[in-house]
Amino acid sequence: MTTTQAGFQRDATGQALLGGRPLLELLHEAGGATPAYFYDISGIEAGVASIVAAFRGEPHLVAYAVKANSAASIVAAVARQGAGVDAVSAGELTLARRVGVDPRRIVLSGVAKRDDELDLALREGILAVQAESVTELRRVAGRARALGARASVSLRINPSVEIDSHSHVATGHDDAKFGIAARDLDEALAVVAGEPTALALVGISTHVGSMLTSPEAYLESARAVCRVALEARARGHALTFVDFGGGFGIDYGKAPAATPATFVERALALKREQGLGDLMLVVEPGRSVVGPYGVLVARVVQAKQSGARRWLMLDAGMNDLIRPALYQASHRIEALDHPPGGAPYRVVGPICESADDFGDFAVGDVPRYVAIRDAGAYGFSMASEYNGRPLPREVFVEGGRLVKVSGGGDVEDWVRRRLEA
Ligand code: LLP
Repeated sequence: MTTTQAGFQRDATGQALLGGRPLLELLHEAGGATPAYFYDISGIEAGVASIVAAFRGEPHLVAYAVKANSAASIVAAVARQGAGVDAVSAGELTLARRVGVDPRRIVLSGVAKRDDELDLALREGILAVQAESVTELRRVAGRARALGARASVSLRINPSVEIDSHSHVATGHDDAKFGIAARDLDEALAVVAGEPTALALVGISTHVGSMLTSPEAYLESARAVCRVALEARARGHALTFVDFGGGFGIDYGKAPAATPATFVERALALKREQGLGDLMLVVEPGRSVVGPYGVLVARVVQAKQSGARRWLMLDAGMNDLIRPALYQASHRIEALDHPPGGAPYRVVGPICESADDFGDFAVGDVPRYVAIRDAGAYGFSMASEYNGRPLPREVFVEGGRLVKVSGGGDVEDWVRRRLEA
C-alpha cells in the first residue's frame, strides 16, 4: 500500500475510506457496533518506516510513546518497523515486553516512578531509566543497590523552553514538574559520580512538549541536551545516547505541521554540529505515529433542533475521545453516508456535561454515521467508562483488510463490576 492511501481519505465518488477501504464496509464487517476506533495499521507502519528512513542509517532509536495508543497490534506494528518504546508505567513496560519489544530498545520515563516500577525496569535490563529529579536518581541508586544491579540511567533535563502549544501539553518550561532543572544538574552529576557501582549514566534526555508544528523549540531544547551531554562526557561519563523526546505535531485540519522526518533531519544535523555525531539519537514520537491513522466512528443517535440551533447527537462522547473537552482540540468530522458540505450542526455526545462537544460540522442531511478524524493518538488510551458507558471497540485494518476487532465492553459487564464495588 502506498502512503497516499493511508489514514482517512475520500475516493473520487466521495466514499469515506480508511487505509483504502470504504469505512462503511469495514464497519459492517466488524459487526456494526459503535462507537468504535478504526486503525490503519499499514499507514502506521509506513509512517514509522519514514521516520526510521530519515536517520539514513545513523545510530538511532525511535522509542514510540506507548501512552498515545497501547493496542498490542499497534505496538507490534511499530516494532516490526524497527522502533522501540518509551514507557511511563509498569503496565506499558510489561505490555511492550509481552509484545516482544527488545528491552534494550525500551526507555522508562515519568516523574514519579514507583519502586516496583524501577525494580521491573532494572530486572528487565532496559536501555535506560530516565531520571526526572535528583531525588529520583537517588531512589534509582537505592533500588539498584538493593537488587545488586547497576542501573543504566539517563538524566531527563528540563530545558527551560516555552512552546507554542496548549498549556496542558507543555512540559519543558520552568514551572513544569518535569525534568531536572539546570540549577540541579551539578548535583545530579555528583550523585551519579558517587554511585559508580549502582549507576551508569548512559544518556541525556528531554521532552519539551507536544503538538510542535515546527522544529525551532524542539531544536532549542535539543541544544540544552547537547550542552549537558558534553559536560557529562567531560566529566568522564561514557554516554551512549542523547534523547530529544517526542512532540512532533500533526495536522488536525487547521494548520500544517512539519513532518517527523523534518524534525529528525534537523535534530541529526544539530547533534553532529555539537560534536556528538557518534552518539545514538533517541526520539520519542507518540501522536505522529498513530494520530492520523485512527478514526472514531460513531452512530448519530438523533438530531435536535430548537429555533435556529441544530445539534447532531452521537453515541460517542467525551468518555471515548476527551481531547476536545480537555484541550479544546478540534477534530475534523466526516459523514460516512453523505458527501461533505451543507448546513452546520453542533456535534455533541451523550454525556451529561456541556464539555461533551465535538464542535461544528456542515452536512446536507442527517447522516447515520460519522467518523471523527485523527483520533488514533490519545483517543482510546484516554477513554473512560464515565456515565456507565463501556469502552469503545477497536478495529484493526491492515492492507485494506479487517484483521482484528477487540474490546467493546458490554453493559452487563460494566454493571457487574460496579455491583461488586
Ligand atoms: N515522551 C514523553 C516523555 C512524553 O511525556 C510524551 C507525551 C511523549 C514522548 C510523546 O509526545 P507526542 O509525540 O505524542 O506529542 N494527551 C495529550 C498529549 C499528552 C502528551 C503527553 N506526553 C493530547 O491528546 O494532545
